[in-house]
Amino acid sequence: MKSAPFEARPHWSGQAALGMSSAEAVLNSLPHSVVVVGPDGEITDANTAAEHFFDISAPLLRRYKLRDLVPFGSPVLALVEQVRGRGAAVNEYKVDLATPRMSGERIVDLHVAPVPEQPGHVVVMLQLRSIADKMDRQLTHRGAARSVTALAAMLAHEIKNPLSGIRGAAQLLEQSASDDDRTLTRLICDEADRIVKLVDRMEVFADKRPVDREPVNIHVVLEHVKRLAQSGFARHIRFVEDYDPSLPAILGNRDQLIQVFLNLVKNAAEAIGPTATDGEIHLTTAFRPGVRLSLPGSKTRVSLPLEFCVKDNGPGVPEDLRPHLFEPFMTTKPTGSGLGLALVAKIIGDHGGIVECESQPRRTSFSVLMPMYTGDDAADRGGGAPS
Ligand SMILES: Nc1ncnc2c1ncn2[C@@H]1O[C@H](COP(=O)(O)OP(=O)(O)OP(=O)(O)O)[C@@H](O)[C@H]1O
Ligand SMILES: [Mg+2]
Repeated sequence: MKSAPFEARPHWSGQAALGMSSAEAVLNSLPHSVVVVGPDGEITDANTAAEHFFDISAPLLRRYKLRDLVPFGSPVLALVEQVRGRGAAVNEYKVDLATPRMSGERIVDLHVAPVPEQPGHVVVMLQLRSIADKMDRQLTHRGAARSVTALAAMLAHEIKNPLSGIRGAAQLLEQSASDDDRTLTRLICDEADRIVKLVDRMEVFADKRPVDREPVNIHVVLEHVKRLAQSGFARHIRFVEDYDPSLPAILGNRDQLIQVFLNLVKNAAEAIGPTATDGEIHLTTAFRPGVRLSLPGSKTRVSLPLEFCVKDNGPGVPEDLRPHLFEPFMTTKPTGSGLGLALVAKIIGDHGGIVECESQPRRTSFSVLMPMYTGDDAADRGGGAPS
């Protein structure tokens, strides 16, 4: 078949639909990067995903050799040679392609195959691992949210009742106390109130009642959160929105979703700090087909194409905190409860979605991935996702 997708063409990428063959269109709509490497290691073709991956336009990519794009001595170079020599396809998993130019996580699975129609040419497909890895990690977060559920239920009963007794007694004492002592009785009341507030926040975890769901426009939620933030804790921070207005509604609970994004925006503002003058929070929404989650113990695969991100240019999440980020009581703040992100993970999990974090200094992003509202009841309620 001579019209194979790998026939040398001047442009696969960045090309208008006009004149684009269906093979090119297919290649460009693939979520995975595909490049063709010529006999001297030069890049002869690249699809749109590859342009994004390397952050270089296709015409420019064609001026590079593969070895210029990957880390020095990368196994991908040997793989390409091996495939060229043997004429048989080879796969390699979990290869790190991070270079100083492309920082961040760049762990990929590599699929390398010869192009029989073009002797000496080899096609390389790169599949970013992070999506698969993210999902594994997220399922652990769901477990963490579950483990706090029983604790929350116990706390609510065992702490709130005695506390209200203590508070009542302090109020009684206050009536006959001297001014000095009144400071102490006030302290008891204030601290009791603080504990009740904390327990109240935890009670959300224990609440097993089904929540009301309705179609929610995520942009209305994000704008509401932005307004709240800008009139309070994020007054000094610039907000930048990048919304996809064609995004369909999600089936969710509006109040809970507000809580989710308020927690994320509050964390972003707190990371940026009260004195920063160049603080920025980006709110983005996008449609990303191809993100599918396999649920453990079930054959169902849920598609999570809706992506909502909160990004900030603060210092980033401390390295040692990352593996436990979504667990309850994980905090680096003197007055933080460490329940914000645990709550986010719980609510998004209940909605059948996942939340993930990628962080480096000045580029921290929390992404919420959600299913589409299809009108199919089971699928819309999370496809039997573990709660
Ligand atoms: N955008 C961010 N940038 C840097 N670190 C973050 C960010 N978001 C969260 N973190 C880190 O994760 C920790 C946990 O966040 P979480 O929201 O769960 O609790 P908290 O903010 O400390 O307390 P609370 O939300 O109860 O006020 C924070 O203490 C902070 O160290
Ligand atoms: Mg928080």
